[in-house]
Amino acid sequence: MKRRDFIKNTSALSAIAILPPFSNCKFEKKGRLRTAHIGVGGMGGEDLRDISSHALVDVTALCDVDANNLAAAKKLHPNAKAYSDYRKMLDKIGDSIDAVIVSTPDHTHAPASLKAMNMGKSVYCQKPLTHHVSEARAMRKLAEEKNLITQMGIQVHSFYDYKLATLLIQSGIIGKVNTVRAWSPKNWGYDGTAPLGNDPVPETLDWNLWLGTSAERQYKKDIYHPGNWRKLVDYGCGTLGDMGVHIFDTPYNALELDVPKTITNKCRKPNGFGYPETNIVTYEFPGTKYTTNDFKWVWYDGKGAPEDHQDLILPGSENKSSNKTKSNDKEATLKDKISLETKLTDESSLPDQGAMFIGEKGRLLLPHFMQLPKKIVDGKYVDISKEISAIEKVNNMGKPIRDYNSEGPKHYHQFVDACLGKDTCTAPFSYAARLTETILLGTIAGRFPGQTLNWNSEKGMFSENAANKYLVGKYRKF
Ligand SMILES: NC(=O)c1ccc[n+]([C@@H]2O[C@H](COP(=O)([O-])OP(=O)(O)OC[C@H]3O[C@@H](n4cnc5c(N)ncnc54)[C@H](O)[C@@H]3O)[C@@H](O)[C@H]2O)c1
Repeated sequence: MKRRDFIKNTSALSAIAILPPFSNCKFEKKGRLRTAHIGVGGMGGEDLRDISSHALVDVTALCDVDANNLAAAKKLHPNAKAYSDYRKMLDKIGDSIDAVIVSTPDHTHAPASLKAMNMGKSVYCQKPLTHHVSEARAMRKLAEEKNLITQMGIQVHSFYDYKLATLLIQSGIIGKVNTVRAWSPKNWGYDGTAPLGNDPVPETLDWNLWLGTSAERQYKKDIYHPGNWRKLVDYGCGTLGDMGVHIFDTPYNALELDVPKTITNKCRKPNGFGYPETNIVTYEFPGTKYTTNDFKWVWYDGKGAPEDHQDLILPGSENKSSNKTKSNDKEATLKDKISLETKLTDESSLPDQGAMFIGEKGRLLLPHFMQLPKKIVDGKYVDISKEISAIEKVNNMGKPIRDYNSEGPKHYHQFVDACLGKDTCTAPFSYAARLTETILLGTIAGRFPGQTLNWNSEKGMFSENAANKYLVGKYRKF
């Protein structure tokens, strides 16, 4: 998308904000939001809990292709109607719901969301917004055309530390930014080959519905459902699409970036099945008022990430053999991760995951997550407590509550309140689609290791024709 379109979208958002309450919703009489949830296991369970913790929500329908997950959710919401096929659910009870929450594997985000949006529903969709660039563009377009309330599930976007980092960067605390380096040592890739043979499909799983629009494939235990699908090119978006969306969100937002001009991914050769287990992706972006003209973002993932780089040397780490905290090879659960990261008080070690902004007047380290950003100048940490207090005061931010249970629901409640005409979403699809497009261009670059791909945002095409076929998915009838 071009910058002028972004500005147009931003103005459209402002216009939404000043419309009289309830202008875009049908809940005037009831003042309550009736929700339908697609995918209620895994993160869908957290989404269900946090949406339904809003006092004005009525959970009206639940959908899951795994009967065990559906039964567990139904137990919590016995009055909700239960379905295994989201198409049947929407066709049947479309008139009795106002908003749809999509928490399925990535390949089903767009098919489910677009159906709901075509019916005029507000949609909260998990990150990354879509599996294909064409889908992200279609969702943004439809949301705009229908003036829908939308939000992508990047809940940390609404947390104190990320809002603070955004405002610090925009206040010019390190001057114009020329580079952001961001990393996650998680491994949501798979360098092995596709498994042979098949396993019996569990009686509790509707495999055809799980595959949805993706190609027919035989079921294999523990390879796809649950969770492991994110390692595989047909269903997920690798570590970049998983953690990259969260970690890049703050730089993307703070620097008001558009989609990139070039993308280069240093990784292994594609094998047509799994994403590479390690990736170093370099993006070059058009400059903005917060960046120099030659701004770049460098992403490192997989075991050992990030690679050592002088931009990442921390005060006090010079005499240590490694600058990094021990990476957590196991994929930690959200709660493990909170306890792991809040324990990291050693200021000379790089946080397990995070981002470093490099600017004209110093560097800003933003650990992922729930820790204060830290400024570094000439190899020393600099006290920024005065700047933080000033930003807190002007923006009425209050003090940080580093408790996931209090911070977590904010992003969800913002969506519910926006649907009820009382708030504005901060990660609507107009924003989320551009961020997702950027991320997905990096995964496509992984199919052309080491080659720099040139992106023409206006045409929605690469200059390298061979890459263009990966922008669109082929939908199976199911
Ligand atoms: N925002 C976050 O912090 C965060 C954290 C984890 C996952 N996620 C996102 O949440 C989504 C789900 O991830 P997960 O780890 O929970 O995956 P998962 O495989 O553990 O759970 C997916 C759930 O959706 C169900 N499902 C699958 N296909 C379905 C369909 N067609 N219709 C209805 N239900 C279907 C599954 O049975 C399961 O209950 C992904 O997009 C992921 O990126 C976000």
